[in-house]
Amino acid sequence: MTRPPATEVKDAARLAAASFTSVHGRPPQGVWSAPGRVNLVGEHTDYNGGCVLPFALPHRTAVAVAPRGDRLLTIATLGSDGRVQRAEPVELRHLRPGRPSGWAAYVAGVAWVLRDHGIELGADLVVATDVPAGAGLASSAALECATALALLGVAEQPSPDDAQRATIARWAQRAENDFVGVPTGVLDQMASLCCIADHVLFFDVSTDHREQVPFAAEAANLAVLVIDTRVRHRNSESGYADRRRATDNAARLLGLGSLGELTPADLADALVAVPRQLRPLVHHVVTENARVLDVVRLLRQHRYADIGPLLDASHDSLRDDYRVSSPELDLAVHLARSAGALGARMTGAGFGGSAIALVHTEALPRVASAIGRGFRSARLRAPRLFTAVPSQGAGLG
Ligand code: GLA
Repeated sequence: MTRPPATEVKDAARLAAASFTSVHGRPPQGVWSAPGRVNLVGEHTDYNGGCVLPFALPHRTAVAVAPRGDRLLTIATLGSDGRVQRAEPVELRHLRPGRPSGWAAYVAGVAWVLRDHGIELGADLVVATDVPAGAGLASSAALECATALALLGVAEQPSPDDAQRATIARWAQRAENDFVGVPTGVLDQMASLCCIADHVLFFDVSTDHREQVPFAAEAANLAVLVIDTRVRHRNSESGYADRRRATDNAARLLGLGSLGELTPADLADALVAVPRQLRPLVHHVVTENARVLDVVRLLRQHRYADIGPLLDASHDSLRDDYRVSSPELDLAVHLARSAGALGARMTGAGFGGSAIALVHTEALPRVASAIGRGFRSARLRAPRLFTAVPSQGAGLG
């Protein structure tokens, strides 16, 4: 198990700058970076008009950038093998969903959205990252948000304030929804842009209310252990879109704008008013929203250890009601709990990816080795384990 050193925060930026210089034969004008996230609680609530509670990881994606004299966008990325991969250069006016496709679409999609907002400048971009990809830790959002800040930076836009960051998060979400074609909510982009160090971000999607809640787990001798199962299931995208369609449908049948409008007091009536197969989904959204509010209340009272049972309940609801967990995530959660974690749950979209566990600092080695052993006995690939403290959101460098 590792704790990412503080210097790692700068590593992606340094690598992006060095790669830019070797690709283009001149240094970049600037480097912007954006973090991945874990969500402490509030899963599959964002697109249901509910509440979320993410914090930013120390892992970041950096984009080194310089403006060009023409209207061309060139995109390159430093692979984990140390080799630079270059996408086909594309003219800004030729950008459209599907062109380019693949990894470069996350970058080009942001340029496409900015073009709609009158920001249209040719640029050379080189990406480097230490956010684990495909791990449910928001690597896509980190790439979109770092790109957005880099393109706005070379367009000489002033550094965004908090309200502008929220707007940029929506733009980045639009790039993912309409250009890349993945129907995600805004949790990841909002976390990547608006989180601050040592805090979790309480965000109510329906009202746009955002609040930084202190989360000094270390001072309370607690740590958040991230368990990346390194398993990603093939049905992740269709499963996500299916859940989204089903909950939209439930809201429509109930005559609501979104399920987030329901409180626990409405739940019993709502459940009888929707078809049987939609009931567990409605149950999850309503109870998960309530859990976010309960966790926020406990954090405000510095009762960190008491959030454990709520994390457990969140996982059980995602596994049994929303059905987005996976055998590997369930195993990780079970092993963490049995070895003494105060609470554990999957984080992110699910169908594979990562779980988090709240662990007493002194119990970390025991919990980590129990998880390693359990995965070995199940003949699974060793999970990647690290502890994460709430880190700074996207910015320069
Ligand atoms: C993914 C999406 C988010 C959110 C989570 C589930 O991370 O990008 O918008 O829906 O899944 O909470």
